[in-house]
Amino acid sequence: MSRIAIYPGSFDPVTNGHIDIIERGLKLFDKIIVTILHNPAKTSLFSLAERIEMLTESLKIYNTIEIDTYGGLLVDYAQKRKAHAILRGMRAVSDFEYEFQMALMNRRLNRDTETVFLMTGLRWIFTSSSIIKEAARFGGNIKGMVPPIVSKHLKTKFRGDASQD
Ligand code: PNS
Repeated sequence: MSRIAIYPGSFDPVTNGHIDIIERGLKLFDKIIVTILHNPAKTSLFSLAERIEMLTESLKIYNTIEIDTYGGLLVDYAQKRKAHAILRGMRAVSDFEYEFQMALMNRRLNRDTETVFLMTGLRWIFTSSSIIKEAARFGGNIKGMVPPIVSKHLKTKFRGDASQD
């Protein structure tokens, strides 16, 4: 039986930290469905179409990855896709409270839901979409923290110019 995990998130935008978790997850699962969901606590910088494009380009080398979007509850989506687990990355203790609360709420909403946490590589411990967007907004060099397509999109968004590196 093929083991499927859903890797949910806002992916606004995808970072190398997300990709690190996906690569780790691929060692445990046969297939990972990377799903963009709505986080009501966040206002997104990139449109859904832009986020899909960046994920698709960044993950094109993996043939056991699917990219999808869903507008409702994560547990409903996981059930619909017959997923064995929800995959989430844990960077530091600061992530724990939010992740723990979300995993327990998801289990409460559907008692069959299992969340698997993977620890991110040390080099991505400080990386988040939010902090990268902030650095990029003020002209900071975010090379190496995000896939090249994301770097390009961030430059276009904040400088209207993606031609320079
Ligand atoms: O990358 P993020 O923003 O930390 O991801 C959070 C996300 C999108 C996975 C979470 O907000 C989510 O699952 N949203 C869909 C609605 C839902 O099911 N919420 C959790 C239980 S109330």
